[in-house]
Amino acid sequence: MGSCSQEKEKQMVDLFAFSGAVISGKIEMGRFFLAPCLVLLAVLLLGSGADAQQVIGGSVTVVQGDTAVLPCKLRLTDTTEDLTQITWQKRTREKPSNDNFITVGPSQEPRFVSGRDDRFKYIGNFNDKNGTLQLSNVALKDEGSYTCIFTLFPGGTKKTEIPLKVTVPPFTNVKDNLPTLGTEEVLFATCTAAGSRPPAEVRWLTGDLEKKVRTTTNSIQYDNGTTTTVSSLFGVPTSEINGRQVQCVISGDFLTKEISLPFTIQVYFSPTEVNIRQISEDTFECLGAANPEAKYDWNRSGQSLPQPGVKVEGAKLQLLSLTSDLNGLYQCEASNTYGSKHSQLYVHVASGTCSAAWTLFGLLFFLNVIGAAVWCYYKSGYSQKRRRLVLKDSKNGTNGEAEMLAAKTSQLADVESKNGQYSTCTEGTTSVSLQTG
Ligand SMILES: *[C@@H]1O[C@H](CO)[C@@H](O)[C@H](O)[C@H]1NC(C)=O
Ligand SMILES: *[C@@H]1O[C@H](CO)[C@@H](O)[C@H](O)[C@H]1NC(C)=O
Ligand SMILES: *[C@@H]1O[C@H](CO)[C@@H](O)[C@H](O)[C@H]1NC(C)=O
Repeated sequence: MGSCSQEKEKQMVDLFAFSGAVISGKIEMGRFFLAPCLVLLAVLLLGSGADAQQVIGGSVTVVQGDTAVLPCKLRLTDTTEDLTQITWQKRTREKPSNDNFITVGPSQEPRFVSGRDDRFKYIGNFNDKNGTLQLSNVALKDEGSYTCIFTLFPGGTKKTEIPLKVTVPPFTNVKDNLPTLGTEEVLFATCTAAGSRPPAEVRWLTGDLEKKVRTTTNSIQYDNGTTTTVSSLFGVPTSEINGRQVQCVISGDFLTKEISLPFTIQVYFSPTEVNIRQISEDTFECLGAANPEAKYDWNRSGQSLPQPGVKVEGAKLQLLSLTSDLNGLYQCEASNTYGSKHSQLYVHVASGTCSAAWTLFGLLFFLNVIGAAVWCYYKSGYSQKRRRLVLKDSKNGTNGEAEMLAAKTSQLADVESKNGQYSTCTEGTTSVSLQTG
């Protein structure tokens, strides 16, 4: 019996012990899971909330190379407590752990904890509980989070975290791809915003050319956090698109306003249709369309000019005296970096009587000369010498049809050195030949 009651007692004790274990287990669980939550909550409320209210900070964005001010100031409500030290910590791209790097004591002399960096300057006031720090010549590696900590007695520490963002404006340019005349789509130009942070937006404003051009944009991000963005402009390089204005617009958070780069679409081509035009009785001009503008060169039968009696000024050729010495084939060459084209002028200064001139005129007319004018008069009885300036068309030698651009007769009173006579009559039929190739 005794043994029985003993067993019951033991069971009861066990039961108690069991329930005790259950109860204590519950309490323990509460200690393990509930209490830390409350503590964490308290830390969150008191820590960040209270600190943020007690310390004035902020977030800072600065352009690379500029000076940043990291503001930090304890609110005046805390003046009853003694400030013993201001500590700055940083966590940057370069050094991701949050380490102390500057401490300031009542002497106001900042002390660098691990290595001096003179770009940092303490500009606050210790007695005023102002911990403001200045960082000059900011680099990308400085980007990160800066923590300003006030150590107070007896209150402990109060801190705030100041994020520092570094922006980098891009290097911008528009590069002409120098398209030449054609019928296939080609790249006209590229617009680049290089090495910006954050990435730039690059786009083309093409106005009413919108349907005639196409754009693509690519970007490359570098390890240092900068991005290069390139936008390309494509189209068919026709002569009608040549000279049209477009704009490349670059925008981004690093800029207060957009950058607009104007660009003129240039379609380059070698000289086409070189023409020789008579601009006065003795002067001729060579003209040809080209981009970039052609440079002109005159030659006489393969020999470079000027020569006596002939003056060359850029595209212009002037025959200073209308003598047969100047007879010959003159060639004008228009050239630019893309090529060249030439045209020919045949000059024939003939002497003879006026009737001979009429005969020649008639002959030229017969040969389908478009226009001529002959004018002759005698001023002095003993003048026998007549000269005619014949500029004969030889249009490629195949066209055959001489085009008379001008027909002129004029009075000349120049000294004829050979026979010492004055010529008072000049008949001229002038036709100009254009031979290109
Ligand atoms: C703290 O010091 C900085 C630098 O001298 C100053 O610009 C700023 O106004 C001060 N802050 C306050 C709240 O007085
Ligand atoms: C970032 O890296 C690129 C590529 O290496 C370089 O060209 C650029 O200068 C760098 N930018 C900065 C701000 O360091
Ligand atoms: C003219 O002749 C010179 C000498 O022969 C030559 O060097 C030059 O290229 C020629 N120019 C033209 C336009 O034919």
